[in-house]
Amino acid sequence: MHPVTGLLTVLDTVLLVRTAPCEFEVRFTPPVWFGAIFGPSMQSQPFIADDGTSFLGNFLVDAEAHWGRGESRALWSGPWTEETVGGDVVLEAGAATVDGECLLVIRRLGETSGDLQEVLQTAREQSLRFEDLFRSDEERKKYQRYLEAEIQKRTRELEDTVRQLRQTVFDLNVAKAEADRQREYFRSLFQNTPEAVVLLDGKGLVVDFNSAFEELFGLSLEVAEGRSIDDLIVPPNKREEARQLTEESHGNRVVKVQDTVRRRQDGTLVPVSIVGAPVVIGDVGIGVLSTYRDNTEQKRAHQRLQDAFIDVVETVSRAMEMSDPYTGGHQRRVAKMASRVGEVLGCDESWLEGIYIGGLLHDIGKISVPSSILVKPGQLREEEWLVLKSHTILGFEILSGASLPWRVDLMARHHHEKLDGSGYPDGLKGDQVNLESRVLAVCDIVEAMSTHRPYRPARPVASIIEELRSGRGTAYDEAVVDAMLSLIEAGEFPFPVEPIPE
Ligand SMILES: [Fe+2]
Ligand SMILES: [Fe+2]
Repeated sequence: MHPVTGLLTVLDTVLLVRTAPCEFEVRFTPPVWFGAIFGPSMQSQPFIADDGTSFLGNFLVDAEAHWGRGESRALWSGPWTEETVGGDVVLEAGAATVDGECLLVIRRLGETSGDLQEVLQTAREQSLRFEDLFRSDEERKKYQRYLEAEIQKRTRELEDTVRQLRQTVFDLNVAKAEADRQREYFRSLFQNTPEAVVLLDGKGLVVDFNSAFEELFGLSLEVAEGRSIDDLIVPPNKREEARQLTEESHGNRVVKVQDTVRRRQDGTLVPVSIVGAPVVIGDVGIGVLSTYRDNTEQKRAHQRLQDAFIDVVETVSRAMEMSDPYTGGHQRRVAKMASRVGEVLGCDESWLEGIYIGGLLHDIGKISVPSSILVKPGQLREEEWLVLKSHTILGFEILSGASLPWRVDLMARHHHEKLDGSGYPDGLKGDQVNLESRVLAVCDIVEAMSTHRPYRPARPVASIIEELRSGRGTAYDEAVVDAMLSLIEAGEFPFPVEPIPE
């Protein structure tokens, strides 16, 4: 219990601070009788004294004038009686000004005071002279002595109360200064952090954000405050992700989204990582603090690295094709075809990237095949044919040492496998051949048939289509053949016979 609450309880006194004429705010927990007389809701609402017809109302007319003078000396009302369900209660009110605040105290008086109150009340009501109430001078003097003693006692009590109040006001000012300092400290942290930070309420509506957030999304707080964060910065295709993020953050746990995008005010998209953390006071979650990290630079750096890697792979691919001038550009054409087929099949970006790299390197094992075999016109002898076929195994061995996110080693090994088991080197069937190798197998054959070789001319498109149709579902994957046929019909393939410009 607050020490002042304890003191007020001991004195059976209510302390009120004037907020407007005849309007007061109750400070500290009042005694039960206060609610019984003046109504139970005065703790959450201002206590408003009535229209002036009651005793308290009359006293407040004098008290207002007293406060107007700003006197710290107390003005006392003298006792009066209020009726309650539990019986009559004798009260007394005092008004004083302390540290610029107009204070009103209402105190319940004890039983002895009750006797005196009865006398005073009677005197007031009947307009009798005070002296007339007493049977003798001795009786009057007795009451006068009693009154003087009471006045002295109450003056001391009021002085104690005023001292306590001064201390309390001082303590409150110190606490307020500390609270202001801490608020300023956290405000500074919030504003100056380089990450874009937004504070949302329990419904996902914007309460506040810092300057980094303002800069990242081109929003002003005047426009955004009170609006849904989802409506402000979430593009339509990320609505579900954002809804889940908000829902999980309100479940009182930290939620992260690593690689996503949000929309700026001008409609452009910005790649971001998001961390949503619940804001909890006591056990109650009151909102979410979301941090947005701009990934633009990271993405650019990653893209530069990726471009450099593809450049290296394309260079390796070009270098090895130099040993077989008749098939120059073969791997690069297969790589591009395979990417387009993958797009038609609905494969994701990473898969398309993988098959492009796999396409560029699928024949890398041919570096161990003598040029005399690679460029030999006419039919190969059995042993030459075995050497040529071994490019799949050697390619696998070369690439299996590479730590890449895609199985390009399997693409090199299995791009001559056929679904009916008639391919090489392992004679795999059906699902044993992965999708990448099935796509490469079709692209490899289309590219090979469409280019001129020492031992045969390029085949016409109709002949290529016929070959694909006859092998559909037996040698070649049906979906892959359909995708390739749609691209041929659209005029994308086969590529021109001339090598792709370097
Ligand atoms: Fe091959
Ligand atoms: Fe090939």
